[in-house]
Amino acid sequence: MPNHLIQAGILGVGSYLPERILTNKELEKMVDTTDEWIKSRSGVKERRIAEPEMSTSDLALRASRKALENAGIGPEELDLIILTTCSKDMIIPAGACLVQQELGATRAGAFDLEAGCTGFVYGLTIATQFIATGAMKHILVIGSENLSKVVNWEDRNTCVLFGDGAGAVVVGQVHAGEGVLATKLSAEGSGWQHLYIPAGGSKMPADPLTLEKKLHYVHMNGKEVFRYAVRVMEEESLNLVKAANLELSDIDLLIPHQANNRIIEHAAKRLGLSMDKVVVNLDRYGNTSSASIPIALAEAVETGRIKAGDNIVMVAFGAGLTSGGVVLKWGERQG
Ligand code: UT7
Repeated sequence: MPNHLIQAGILGVGSYLPERILTNKELEKMVDTTDEWIKSRSGVKERRIAEPEMSTSDLALRASRKALENAGIGPEELDLIILTTCSKDMIIPAGACLVQQELGATRAGAFDLEAGCTGFVYGLTIATQFIATGAMKHILVIGSENLSKVVNWEDRNTCVLFGDGAGAVVVGQVHAGEGVLATKLSAEGSGWQHLYIPAGGSKMPADPLTLEKKLHYVHMNGKEVFRYAVRVMEEESLNLVKAANLELSDIDLLIPHQANNRIIEHAAKRLGLSMDKVVVNLDRYGNTSSASIPIALAEAVETGRIKAGDNIVMVAFGAGLTSGGVVLKWGERQG
């Protein structure tokens, strides 16, 4: 290990969204809801739905190939693959291992990370540590979700909000002064029952009764999650900016977890940011949980919305309850 820390940053980005679009109007025919309610309460207009035979690791693979190409590195150069998801392919093994196999990333370790919608910033934070110490050179961090397979399509409280998709980044060494400037991981486990899938694990193994009661689907206390989100999105962002030794006026772009327009607008307001400095795509994709930030980041890079020297704040909240974020200075080599 070197006796100084190496600067970690993002070398490449990629995303994948399934082609099938499910609009609010279509949802009106499925549950007791309206396009107007969904748009005004959440901001979602449509979302993408993965094909029945497509798993979370399949989505992850597609985003990962693009991220590797964008970074200009081959799969055999990867030291580690971290797949963040709360809609795993299977309980065991980790979907990251399926991605490793399909990519041919034969040198890489691989594991899944579950931190709800905060998963991607958790994964990016972990990757940063391995790069900083010199223990690893290239790490693939993926956020991938197949939430359409774990929501109850008869529950209007949840099914209208979520969507499927994947985003991925390659993390590696960048120039001094660029890359990851600050990270923060938090959790409030006291709120775990506000957003969870009750059955299918060791706490409540799946049986005919749990199936009948639909306990293997997402259960959410939306109001409590909303309250938590409004509080922590503001707190985490302010603390992150301070930890990065920046002023609020130094922020060029906020990439928040895409869950609800009202939560995003509140955070932007508290940071004194106009909405043109905030990346929002939940109108098109809904809440893609741990995939939402890497998808939004990849789109912002691809559309030229990010330029070298930009200070970017990524901040998220989710099941756990968890929250956290990463501050990045975008560099020449990144993306
Ligand atoms: O990534 C983390 C994932 N979770 C979240 O981000 C969720 C955070 N929470 C939220 O975004 C919001 O709480 C929701 C969008 C889920 C709900 O918005 P709300 O303003 O908190 O609505 P509410 O839950 O207080 O419901 C208001 C009314 C209720 O009817 P009553 O009791 O007032 O008669 C609900 O039954 O809206 C009703 N409602 C709906 N109506 C039409 C709930 N869902 C729907 C629906 N369509 N889909």
